[in-house]
Amino acid sequence: MSIFSDKKILLGVSGSIAAYKAADLASKLTQCGASVDVILTSAAQKFVTPLTFQSVTGRKAYADADLWGDDAHVLHVNLGKRADLLVVAPCTANTLAKLAHGVVDNLLALSALAATCPLLLAPAMDGGMFDHPATQANLQTLRGRGATIAGPVSGHLASGMSGVGRMIEPAEILGHIRWALGRGGALAGKKIVVSAGGTQEALDPVRFIANRSSGKQGYALAQAALDAGAEVVLISAPTALTAPVGAKVIRAVSVQEMLDALLAESADALIMAAAGADFRPKAAAKDKLKKRDGIPQVELEAAPDMLKTLASQTSRYRVKVGFAAESRDLLANAAEKLKSKKLDFIAANDISASDAGFGAETNRVTLLFADGEREDLPLASKSEVAEKIIERIARLLG
Ligand code: CTP
Repeated sequence: MSIFSDKKILLGVSGSIAAYKAADLASKLTQCGASVDVILTSAAQKFVTPLTFQSVTGRKAYADADLWGDDAHVLHVNLGKRADLLVVAPCTANTLAKLAHGVVDNLLALSALAATCPLLLAPAMDGGMFDHPATQANLQTLRGRGATIAGPVSGHLASGMSGVGRMIEPAEILGHIRWALGRGGALAGKKIVVSAGGTQEALDPVRFIANRSSGKQGYALAQAALDAGAEVVLISAPTALTAPVGAKVIRAVSVQEMLDALLAESADALIMAAAGADFRPKAAAKDKLKKRDGIPQVELEAAPDMLKTLASQTSRYRVKVGFAAESRDLLANAAEKLKSKKLDFIAANDISASDAGFGAETNRVTLLFADGEREDLPLASKSEVAEKIIERIARLLG
């Protein structure tokens, strides 16, 4: 997760029961390689202590008492100035109001006023407080100044009631942080469409022909493109994966649906990581095929080759990248697909290896370029492979 390396996150924790989840967030951020400074408000300290955060970040956590310490005159300025991102999670109605109006009566609010970095807020409060016009107006003010508001969501609240006011989970806040850190990267201002997963072609209302694609490489590519600052559209066949925060997700079940989605989009680059069906039942049965009717004879027909259909649409996607899933003659077959599908480059993927290709956590690919260049990537995680591919696309897009 190189996006977090060397990044300085200032995490403000205000007084909500969700403060205990902020410790998990601080821990996750630290494990991802970020350096995390934490400021607790006095209300937050009723729920958790600076020691909780120091224990997971390995760094001093600050409280209002530090406002009056030896370096008090510079502390609030320094904490805000050196941060790449200020995250307030949980952000209570009180802290939200202070941030909206520049009321600086504690270390967190002072640091926020001195900070010049982007601001991300994860509100947590009772449903009625969140709905209150005062809170909504404060959110509007902060949004207007460029702050990102992540959540809250509907669910069980500390009051025992349920409604909109529950802080989003730390893993999701991490996704929002990742998105915020990626802005301004090498692909800022560029749009990338990624297809992912294995399509399903219906036999009848309950059965379909599918393939072993897990979608992991495609989702990792979408994440890497977001990390590089791109606007990302992820056209996804059914998978068990959670889409990265910030991607616009379009669901497509069959090759035809995926092709329709691809034809409705346009972008600076297209990455076709999806395993589209090559054959599909000529007609899906309207009703469930019954055992008592005997073994069905299913007639197959060719499914459209999405990349070949797009090859004639030169203005829709400036750069096109494909994958070649091969179990033999890897490079020869990949080179043939590079040419016949008119791609800028192709990632040749040996799917016969157990540590690469469908379902595996790692991948080993060779990139073949239209100009004859070749780059062998070593065995790496699918995220690392994705970062390399995105780097190459950024270079092609200039
Ligand atoms: N692809 C596509 N439309 C399909 C099938 C595949 O656009 N109906 C794309 C894939 O997303 C991939 C590339 O074509 O980027 C190569 O896919 P692959 O399955 O390796 O090859 P096929 O073209 O299906 O050819 P073959 O089955 O002969 O290997």
